[in-house]
Amino acid sequence: MKKYILDLTVKSVEQVHERYVLVKLTSKETLPQMLPGQFVEVRVDGSATTFLRRPISIHFVDYQQNELWLLVACIGDGTKAIGALKSGDVLNCVLPLGHGFTIASDKKCLLVGGGVGVAPLLYLGAELKRQGVEPTFLLGARTGKDLLMLDEFRKYGRVMVTTEDGSEGEKGFVTNHSVLEQEQFDFIQTCGPTPMMKAVARVARQKGIDCEASLENLMACGLGACLCCVEKTTEGNLCVCKEGPVFNIKRLLWQD
Ligand code: FES
Repeated sequence: MKKYILDLTVKSVEQVHERYVLVKLTSKETLPQMLPGQFVEVRVDGSATTFLRRPISIHFVDYQQNELWLLVACIGDGTKAIGALKSGDVLNCVLPLGHGFTIASDKKCLLVGGGVGVAPLLYLGAELKRQGVEPTFLLGARTGKDLLMLDEFRKYGRVMVTTEDGSEGEKGFVTNHSVLEQEQFDFIQTCGPTPMMKAVARVARQKGIDCEASLENLMACGLGACLCCVEKTTEGNLCVCKEGPVFNIKRLLWQD
């Protein structure tokens, strides 16, 4: 897919959690086509510690409003600077990058996310629904307060949640949720912390369910040049930024 370097205008920055902001960007031009699971490299200006672009998942694209949504965890200098943006500011973005999720509109899909890893699953769920299949979202967090954007997810499918403290949904990790025992899914797609994704992949393998995971390896260039994001796969070392970030788990050397 063609890549673009665009100066996008900040439409709004909403604090959706003490650590997370929802940034809505727009442009005078029509936004290019982006696929669920692809990402954006954002340039953060004005700080010596932020000279590298930051990779951020595409949370949602609203083509009617010509908006790109980014759900950003404000944890380092770069992402905190993004969280401090104001309406009307300009954010330089390279997009769309990487290979996204398969749109399996002929399958019963379970989308499993944890933490800010839930971000790309909203756009994936919206695209599945647009193509005629309502996915089930299984979203995990430490506490009920840490569950992000649930009302948005509910627009596109059934939402199940787990929390580690049991304050919302079922208590435990996503892989403990009863829906995994009670229902049969054809396809699992996951994004979140690596230990969570490995646990999800283990469940998928045990049940013989096809599964894709969106890897969150450290990235810098986002274009396959710096090699800082490599992952060992059945085909050798591959750049997650270019060959992924989404991989079928059969290609990964994740062991039980
Ligand atoms: Fe540079 Fe992947 S981030 S090669």
